[in-house]
Amino acid sequence: MNVAIMGYGTIGSGVAEVLSTNSSLIEKRAGQKLVLTKVLDLRDFEGDPIAPLVVHDYQEIASDPSIGMVVETMGGVEPAYTFVKAMLQAGKHVTTSNKALVADKGAELIAIAREHNVSFLFEASVGGGIPIIRTLLSALTGDEIEEITGIINGTTNYMMTKMASEGCDFDTVLKEAQDNGYAEADPTADIEGYDATRKIAILTSLVAQAQVDFEDIPVEGITNISSHDFEYARRLDRAIKLLAISKRSGDTFSVRVAPFLLSEEHPLYAVHGVMNAVYVVGNMLGESMYYGSGAGSLPTASAVVGDMVDMARNSANPLDIRWNAEKLALADPDSQVYQNFIRTSLSEVRAREIFPTQQVVDCGIPGEIGIVTEPIREHDYLEIVGRLSGGEVLGRIRLA
Ligand code: HSE
Repeated sequence: MNVAIMGYGTIGSGVAEVLSTNSSLIEKRAGQKLVLTKVLDLRDFEGDPIAPLVVHDYQEIASDPSIGMVVETMGGVEPAYTFVKAMLQAGKHVTTSNKALVADKGAELIAIAREHNVSFLFEASVGGGIPIIRTLLSALTGDEIEEITGIINGTTNYMMTKMASEGCDFDTVLKEAQDNGYAEADPTADIEGYDATRKIAILTSLVAQAQVDFEDIPVEGITNISSHDFEYARRLDRAIKLLAISKRSGDTFSVRVAPFLLSEEHPLYAVHGVMNAVYVVGNMLGESMYYGSGAGSLPTASAVVGDMVDMARNSANPLDIRWNAEKLALADPDSQVYQNFIRTSLSEVRAREIFPTQQVVDCGIPGEIGIVTEPIREHDYLEIVGRLSGGEVLGRIRLA
């Protein structure tokens, strides 16, 4: 089968490398050879062995009847959406690593694929090389999924790990992450939690078989986390991690992306650096966890090529994913109950009067103490803070 790659960046070039390095085993597993014949990119790659395959117009791929499968690794919703839609309508199987596209247009593209009797897969869009989507869609189909909690953003996990181990502040660690290639020049999507929000929206949509809009998910990034927070975290024997949490709540899900303080007993406590992990609880299975490289050229390409092999093997009988466009109303986030760690300028006596307090932590930081509250409904927490005159809460992190 002839294949094309749209977007020859980090992941697209990784896909070409995986296809070439593992060509003979891929041929055996796919039941046919997967031959890269076209690459869509704005650049020419002069002097690169890929140069003769480069085209600049996606229609050259869409209208080429010899190409049966297309990989989309461009990123962003447009023009990826227009291009992918054209490929599916032209009867080509498509796999993508693009979480923005899948979170926004997943249900629609699955329906278009179904209509044209082809597969649309997106294993690499969440957790990079971790096969979490296939796990949810096939291995765990005998279970009611009760919870998915993930560290699904490598950039922020790298930053949290560095801040914890080196005691440096947010700006220093961000600069270091950018210098090392672990954070983009514009890090907004990662550090504000939007990337993780799209990924948990995709996982929740697949479990619920309905559309979860990432805009409906309450999100807090890591930009307010300071080196002081890590001093308290150390005293509490806890780690600070950006978690994406989706918990079944009756017929719907309660979803949130935010930094959390994790105890040593939490399965995600020891997930360090750029690594990702997804903790899944099924009503029959109980607990399980999936760990691996959540980003990077070859790990992500490995997931893309896994989809390619699957699509080639099932080329006459396309893989169908159940994800309806019907929107899922999420549970009220303010009804969730959490223990909170609060840094406050209040005296211990006042803090205890105002917050149902379980523990007071004094790290000797001038003008503040830390408290750990009893479990409080989010709504009640907001009401308590709303009654204060302002400025007394210097920071707040939920406990997990
Ligand atoms: N910026 C993303 C991350 C890349 O850090 O996880 C993979 O989606």
